[in-house]
Amino acid sequence: MGVLFEHELKVGVCLSLMKTVLTGVKPTGRIHIGNYLGAMRPAIAMCNQENVQGLLFIADYHSLTTVHNAETLNHMVYDLAATWLALGLDPQQTFIYRQSDVPETFELQWILSCMSAKGLMNRAHAYKAIVQENEKKAKSDLDDGVNMGLYNYPILMAADILLFSADEVPVGEDQVQHVEIARDLAEKFNRIFAEEVIRLPKVVVQKESKIVPGLDGRKMSKSYDNTIPVFMEPKKMRQLVMKIKTDSSGPEDPKDPNSSILFDLYKEFATPEQVEEMAHRYHKGIGWGYVKQDLFEAMESTLSGPREHYKELMNNKDELDQILKEGSSRARERAAELMSRVRTAIGITRRGK
Ligand code: ADP
Ligand code: TRP
Repeated sequence: MGVLFEHELKVGVCLSLMKTVLTGVKPTGRIHIGNYLGAMRPAIAMCNQENVQGLLFIADYHSLTTVHNAETLNHMVYDLAATWLALGLDPQQTFIYRQSDVPETFELQWILSCMSAKGLMNRAHAYKAIVQENEKKAKSDLDDGVNMGLYNYPILMAADILLFSADEVPVGEDQVQHVEIARDLAEKFNRIFAEEVIRLPKVVVQKESKIVPGLDGRKMSKSYDNTIPVFMEPKKMRQLVMKIKTDSSGPEDPKDPNSSILFDLYKEFATPEQVEEMAHRYHKGIGWGYVKQDLFEAMESTLSGPREHYKELMNNKDELDQILKEGSSRARERAAELMSRVRTAIGITRRGK
């Protein structure tokens, strides 16, 4: 067997054993510790597994459905890329790229839109929610406030996924319907043109088994204005930690660690020994101010390194551009393969080359 052939065979076997896991993130604002603990930390751990080829992209064109300010969009894309990298995403192993750097996405989107029934888009949750809101307000135009980007959003998302023959797509509960639409469109394409051109992805629901509480005890969320941004200066972060809601028990009163927001957060950042020690102090009685100070210190020891890395990256956009460009060219190699099969299947081919 020729050396080259043997090498190619090995690469082929390796690729087929690797699971492709793909997810996209919309740049929509400052990342908070709820996003980090609930979504980013598990995603990074998954992408770092040996048998996984991770693809993580910044869905900048999806944001264009709502963000219509060049400076804001541009800043948010860099901010999100720097945040993922600073929190530990390894760009050597995972392809990290901007959606807008993969033009094949938009070609596939058009092809898929020609397969998509309009009624399927009418049933998409985000669109339906706006229509219902307009109905409630008795507006004469039920499509008021709907642009075509929002209406076609699920088809663009299907193209993001199907272009890379993703095996698994981890998403939050609210995105499950979109992945199901991607499967529907893939099935329809295969049925019309040729079996098994497009791989059907599996949705992996990232259940919020662990909902990170915010300053007021509700789920930490941008919409509730109760967040602790993941990268903020220590002084400000300490001030926010000191604002976390507690009950009115006194310092000597024994406390239940299992019903304490502070303890829940502490568990995420402290070592197992520190957590055990803290549980003991709760049972004995401890002032909330001390718990908050220890929580702040544990957060600081986890986040100060990544924060410095984040700042370095934000001050070196050339490096960020380079990383994103490399990610997109590796991703596009894979996209080219699928697109060639798709074009042949639909009859968009050229004679000659
Ligand atoms: P927000 O509620 O602040 O708008 P997003 O909806 O943009 O956050 O969430 C992005 C990701 O972070 C989702 O996967 C979501 O499940 C996760 N996430 C957001 N807030 C929390 C939280 N408080 N606890 C756990 N996971 C969260
Ligand atoms: N729509 C997703 C969200 O709002 C982001 C996204 C775009 C995505 N394309 C994707 C997620 C493809 C998974 C796969 O969160």
